[in-house]
Amino acid sequence: MELRQELRTGFAHIDAQHKALLEAVDCFRDTLKNGESSRPYEAFLGFLTIYGMVHFQIEESCMQAHRCAAANQNCLEHKAFRKMIEAECARFYRQGFDPELARALLGRIDRWLSRHMGQVDVQLRKEHPI
Ligand SMILES: [Fe+2]
Ligand SMILES: [Fe+2]
Repeated sequence: MELRQELRTGFAHIDAQHKALLEAVDCFRDTLKNGESSRPYEAFLGFLTIYGMVHFQIEESCMQAHRCAAANQNCLEHKAFRKMIEAECARFYRQGFDPELARALLGRIDRWLSRHMGQVDVQLRKEHPI
């Protein structure tokens, strides 16, 4: 997925983090197409876990500082994303790599990202017009 103009928040550091996440998702999608992906998947889950701590924290502080109307909704949805990744990490360490489940997670992440970034994160733009 590309960071299209309508997904930009106008905050360069937030947009750069969003771009990095979209690239990581695309990169793992390609890796998955090319076959066995247990180690890359573990690295991808690790990236998503750290991303869920670092980016979400930075973005939540930015929304709070600018008194963004979407601040509460943003926190709630981040929590749900973190839960989704935590559940998949726990499953992965119990049962191992499963390409079907990895594909399903990618689909959920795609849907989550386009909706969350397009409806919640972009509300930062009102505080900081492009
Ligand atoms: Fe967000
Ligand atoms: Fe975000």
